[in-house]
Amino acid sequence: MKQQGLFITFEGPDGSGKTTQIQLLQKYFQQKGLRCLLSREPGGTEIGEKIRTLLLDKAHTEMDFAAEALLYAAARAQHVAQVIGPALRRGEVVICDRFVDSSIAYQGYGRQLGEVVAQINRFATGELCPDVTFFMQLAPEKARERIKARKCDRLELEQLAFHQRVFAGYQQLEQAEPQRIVAIDASGSIEEIHEIICERMEALLLCR
Ligand code: TYD
Repeated sequence: MKQQGLFITFEGPDGSGKTTQIQLLQKYFQQKGLRCLLSREPGGTEIGEKIRTLLLDKAHTEMDFAAEALLYAAARAQHVAQVIGPALRRGEVVICDRFVDSSIAYQGYGRQLGEVVAQINRFATGELCPDVTFFMQLAPEKARERIKARKCDRLELEQLAFHQRVFAGYQQLEQAEPQRIVAIDASGSIEEIHEIICERMEALLLCR
């Protein structure tokens, strides 16, 4: 898909500070006078939010792993068709909290579904790929500590071994695509991390 805008995604475990950094990055673009749309997955559309409720409901312990992967991909297809694609074609900046890399890490590696996850997502997204992805790197043990106080969703309730596979999956993705995926140590301060992200954005904007 040919796109004029800029597509930025954030990845990493819950508790890694994605939300704070996404909000700071939106301000950075707004200060430059650029339109910047924030969205999240699963969700971002009415249909996607309904699928999100299905996916994260703790009562759905019987959910089949293939059904899970397809539901994430279905929500994503709607999101790309209805929100992300049109915004990029209008030339806007889109920042998304999670995208295909989450499915590859959680369903591909965590659930051990493998390569099929990338295939269904190529179909779901029309092969739309982020221009840059910030991977907030936080060891699963530390992420668990940070979210302990909160109510967990269905995936966060998974065992540590699952989250270790997810983390290893992200590391594999980063090694395979170092030009797109920027790994950031999530234990740094909010300001330090924002600085790293801004530097990367400046470099990317210069090349366009
Ligand atoms: P969310 O509350 O948005 O978590 P976070 O704040 O960590 O982004 O819940 C999303 C959950 O769904 C999270 O546990 C990761 C998981 N997930 C997948 O397993 N596959 C996917 O493709 C996506 C987008 C999310």
